Amino acid sequence: MSQIAKTKLTQTQLDAHWMAYTGNRQFKQDPRLIASAEGHYYTDIDGRRIFDGLSGLWTCGLGHSVPSINEAVAKQIKTLDYSPAFQFGHEKSFLLAEKITEFMPAPLNRIFFTGSGSESVDTALKIARAYWRKKGKGTKTKFIGRAKGYHGAGVSGFSVGGIPANRTLYGQGLESYHLPHTQVPGTEFSKGMPEKGKERAEELLNLINMHDASNIAAVIVEPMSGSGGVIVPPVGYLQRLRQICDEHDILLIFDEVITGFGRMGAKTGAEAFGVTPDIITLAKQVTNGAIPMGAVAFKQEIYDTFMETGGADYMLEVPHGYTYSAHPIACAAGLASLEAITQQNLIDRVKEMSPIWEACVHQLKAASPLVTDIRNYGFASGMSIAHIDGEPAKRPFQIAMRMWEKGYYVRYGADTIQLAPPFTTEKSEMDSLINALGDTLKEQH
Ligand SMILES: Cc1ncc(COP(=O)(O)O)c(C=O)c1O
Repeated sequence: MSQIAKTKLTQTQLDAHWMAYTGNRQFKQDPRLIASAEGHYYTDIDGRRIFDGLSGLWTCGLGHSVPSINEAVAKQIKTLDYSPAFQFGHEKSFLLAEKITEFMPAPLNRIFFTGSGSESVDTALKIARAYWRKKGKGTKTKFIGRAKGYHGAGVSGFSVGGIPANRTLYGQGLESYHLPHTQVPGTEFSKGMPEKGKERAEELLNLINMHDASNIAAVIVEPMSGSGGVIVPPVGYLQRLRQICDEHDILLIFDEVITGFGRMGAKTGAEAFGVTPDIITLAKQVTNGAIPMGAVAFKQEIYDTFMETGGADYMLEVPHGYTYSAHPIACAAGLASLEAITQQNLIDRVKEMSPIWEACVHQLKAASPLVTDIRNYGFASGMSIAHIDGEPAKRPFQIAMRMWEKGYYVRYGADTIQLAPPFTTEKSEMDSLINALGDTLKEQH
């Protein structure tokens, strides 16, 4: 058996794991293996320190190996490792649900637990359809997503998602239609919310005209698209979506798997952008990435509708849920994570430091003509990179690999580089990341 340089893993072992969203063939020729993580840094198997420029996968805003989360997890696994998710409960899920509601806009005060963002999206879409049935409007089954949107890897998620590469291989999904994305020509290098682009919400009226509101269950958008390359909503755009949904009796779902719990310098994207949806999907930051968990926040009226029409009280109001819904260890991690965000006042910190981050990332415009756009909000930024002819995804890949060599982890996807440093990042770390990226961009000429 051959042995890959830098690791004791054999080729056979490397081949056994079909890695998620990874170029498996390239990775297995040159594995990038992480051995440990603490604070804002990973250590790879060669002992190199690597700055975490994406907070894991937008998960670890508190940094890694947070003592209070580690302790909560260790204590919980010794006390109650698992508890059946159906028909029986444990106290921590109720405490965590209440804690999550403190982060949600007021009417969204009923929390359903899932195991991931994809399951949260599935849950939101299923409940949206079921809600309309309960209301006697069972024809409302279609969904509207948005181009460049990402809503996870489930069948429902790829259906409402709008990243073509994530859809093409999988055939028929749920019946879904898509709004245009909001990257409008002329808004390149906008700082924060672009001034232009609100009019793209009007396309919802065309879709309603085509399909009729009586057939549409919900519109689902990320308030700020993350995986599509950090696409910040134009001023007034989300307000207009809300208005149109209200006028046509369509549920509005915000997928806040990335934007929930502080990344925007607000509790949610809903709070940051001043629009309250009917349903919010959550995951990632809820446990700081330490244990898989997702959640969906519903406005109370939706919950009440199911309770009022649930039949005898020993009957299920909604036949839906997961073996790992409200897993006790995830709940313990979630309580510790959200407590730390509150205690350390991290949402205010992100808000206060966002202008510093903004100034930092926009310096990259001068670094290289290959940067064709830079977008930012809160502690998130995306930049578009000029294509190599016929290979739009290649240059971001090359940049991310070079950054890894230099000791920085950044995310690349399609023609973009994405950055999302931990909430506790210091200015000196921002400068170091951006300087390294600027130099790397220059090397690409
Ligand atoms: C907005 C959004 N929704 C859903 C998901 C899916 O989450 P998961 O990968 O936990 O299933 C993601 C993951 O990146 C996401 O960014």
